[in-house]
This record gives sequence, C-alpha cells and structure tokens, in this order.
Amino acid sequence: MLEVSRNTVVNAYERLFAEGFIETRIGDGTYVAQLHALSKPMQPGESFGIEPQLHLGFRLPAASLFNQHRIHEGAPKAFRIGMPAIDLFPFDDWARLQSRFWRREPVDHMGYGHPAGEPQLRELIAQYLRHARGLKCDPSQIVITLGAQQAIMICSALLLHPEDEVVIENPCYWAAAGAFSCLGVKMNGIAVDNDGLQTSQLQRIPKARLAYVSPSCQYPTGATLSMARRLELLKWAEEKKSWIIEDDYDGEYRYSGTPLTPLAAIDQSNRVLYIGSFSKVMYPGLRLGYLVAPKQLVDQFLLMRTMSTRQPPMNDQMAMALFLSEGHFQKHSRRMRRAALLRRDALLQAWNQHLSHIGEMQQVSSGLHVTIRLANFVTEQRLIAQALSEGIEITPLSASWLPGSSEAQTGRYGLVLGFACVKVPDILRAVETLKYAWAQR
Ligand SMILES: Cc1ncc(COP(=O)(O)O)c(C=O)c1O
Repeated sequence: MLEVSRNTVVNAYERLFAEGFIETRIGDGTYVAQLHALSKPMQPGESFGIEPQLHLGFRLPAASLFNQHRIHEGAPKAFRIGMPAIDLFPFDDWARLQSRFWRREPVDHMGYGHPAGEPQLRELIAQYLRHARGLKCDPSQIVITLGAQQAIMICSALLLHPEDEVVIENPCYWAAAGAFSCLGVKMNGIAVDNDGLQTSQLQRIPKARLAYVSPSCQYPTGATLSMARRLELLKWAEEKKSWIIEDDYDGEYRYSGTPLTPLAAIDQSNRVLYIGSFSKVMYPGLRLGYLVAPKQLVDQFLLMRTMSTRQPPMNDQMAMALFLSEGHFQKHSRRMRRAALLRRDALLQAWNQHLSHIGEMQQVSSGLHVTIRLANFVTEQRLIAQALSEGIEITPLSASWLPGSSEAQTGRYGLVLGFACVKVPDILRAVETLKYAWAQR
C-alpha cells in the first residue's frame, strides 16, 4: 500500500495524462503511452558539437572570423576602443528625463509603436542632421535602430542576396565584415590611404552591388575620405546602380577643420543609406542609432522592421527625444568632444615622450582612437599580451584585415588605442606602466 490520499493519486494520474505519459481507452482502462526513447543524457566532459550536416541559415563560421566583440566588464580601462568619456555622462539629467516619461503614465507609448521608431524622435534627428551634418532629409526617411550594427545588418539583408559582391574598406570595421559574412555575401577589400578608400580601384570589382564606407573616420586607420573621392564614389554608385552604406562613425568627433559634407547630403541619385549612432556621444549600451533611407526604400524598410524587431524600447526613445529637444545633447556632445581632445593630446604627448621607440604616434584629427604601426606580428602580439597582463587593453591592427590580404601589405600590424574613455591621470599612469612592462623582453 502507498498510504497516500485518493486526491494525490488522482492528481498524479492527471499530470501523467496531461504530459502524454499515459493514455486512456474508453471502456477499457489506462495504459502507459508508447513513447520514443530519449537519447542518452550527455556525460560529464562531453561537449555539444555542431553536426557538419546541420543547416545553418546564417554563415556563422565565416562571421566568426571577424568576431572581435568584447564584453565590457567593469569600469572603462585604458586604452579600450569604442568607448567615449562616459565618466562625463549627465546621469542626473538622464534619470530625470526617464522618470518624467514614466511619471506621466505614458499609456499611449506602451503598445506596439511605429516600426520606424517614435515620430517625435525621428523629427528631432532630422533637425539635428540638418544643423550638425548639413544633411537634409524628411523624418519619414529615418528609421530608429538598435545601434549602427543593426542598421548595417538590415540594409544588407534588404539589398543583398547571398553570393552578391560588396566593396569594403581594408582594413575594415570587423562588425560590418561580420554582418556581410552572416549573409553569405562576397567581400572585396579595397585599400585605404590618407584620403580614405582608394576609389580608383572600384573598377576592378565590376559586380559589386554595394560599398560600405566610414567617410568621417575610417576604422581603424582614422582616415577621412577626401571630397574628390566622395564624388568619385557617388559617380560609381550612380553609373553601376549600386548602393553605398555611409557609416558616419565618429562624425561628432572632429578636432580640426570643418567636417566634410556626408555623402548622403550630396548624393543626387538616392543611392546612399546613411547610418548614425548615439553610442559615441551617449553610451554604447543604450543601443540607439538610426538610418536615413533613400525615399524609394522607405516602405521596404518599414516592412523589414515590422517583421523583425519592430521598434527599440519606447522609454529610451522618448528620453532621447527629450534629451535632444531640451538641448542636452548639443551641450553634452560639445563637452564630450572637448574631453576627447584633451585626452587625445595627453596620450600623444606622453606616448611620444616615453614610448616613441615603439612607434611614433601621429596626431589624429577625428575619432576616438589612434593607430601605431609595427613591423611584424610577433611584436604586435607580444606588446598586447604584456599590456594585458598589466590590465591595459590594446587592440591588434592585424585583426582588421580581410582574410587573404597580402602579407606584403605595408602597415599590416600595429596597436589600436582608444583614448577617450579614461581620464588624463589614468592615461598618464597607463603610459608609465607600459614603459616598464615593454622594457622587459
Ligand atoms: C566603424 C564603426 N561604426 C559604428 C560603430 C557604432 O556601432 P553601434 O552603434 O552598433 O554601437 C562603431 C563602434 O565602435 C564603429 O567602430
């Protein structure tokens, strides 16, 4: 005898029945269901392998070649790339704007919103682009995205078929290359010099349907695309009926001269998809960016958004709209630019005083990082490992080249250093640390 109550037995039978372990035949009885045996459980130490025949919709193995994603754990460190001066973030203003949104019981913003993002924010971004970047567009062309990365991904998914060919700067922004390889697209690298992408080489890739460029500040070289090359690139797109993704990376961080007009502002044939991000003036974890779609593609982008992520979180979009409309963004971006400039100068001076034997650091006129070229891979890897053992993050330049780039390519190895995310005393301390760490062989 089990010595349990009738209720317990009835409950147990109901549970077994609900989960399909038993079946009842009317007028007959209750039987154990005939189930397929489960495969044997994994043993400790066994790992999940991906069977070779598994059909992966995405080309993940190819994309993994480009994956330099680092989870930013803890406070920013010298010389982390991709991070602005978040110690200057106006936490109180941001908290006030977020709580203003919630305190007003925003029931009209709690449902499914417009797939392109909040109309108010799109209107403000259009105004900002007109004033700050000389780019005139209609708010209906703006799609709010989860950062530039998502914008690159949805532009590529919309415009490219697997096996299509694209042009990409070489060395390149790893996450753009990763997005293209996820889609199975063939990438053709074109070299970059002091004037940016060498547009004269476009002719050797007759089948390219799209070119990805970052004209304001090329990652990782920091080059700005010259006006002559901007015009040549636009002419190429018009003649070939190809597309240009203009990633206006670090467009807000220009330290000398007037910023050049974005491609999208001088494009006469609606071939440019302009991408901007709030990651570098606000903070990367916010995940807010935008794209300006050519008018003829707006409806297709809306459909893509409806079928994928719809819109980014409403509270962040609304807080961002308030941040722009009340003038905080303009004030904050001036402050961020001043801080980045101060930090750039501090690094430049300290480096050239103590570490010029590693490689002369050149002054950069835009962006948040600087690159030092090295003679070979072994030196690059040794310096980076020694820095890391002292808690200093440096990114290898060699990881930014497309596979198959020629070994003989000059300037293939080097150090990429972000200078904006820590304060001047921390920069000086890190240079001092490197001086001793690198003196040891
Ligand atoms: C070339 C380039 N474009 C765009 C971004 C910004 O990306 P996201 O908006 O996805 O943070 C970065 C980030 O470092 C970048 O290096």
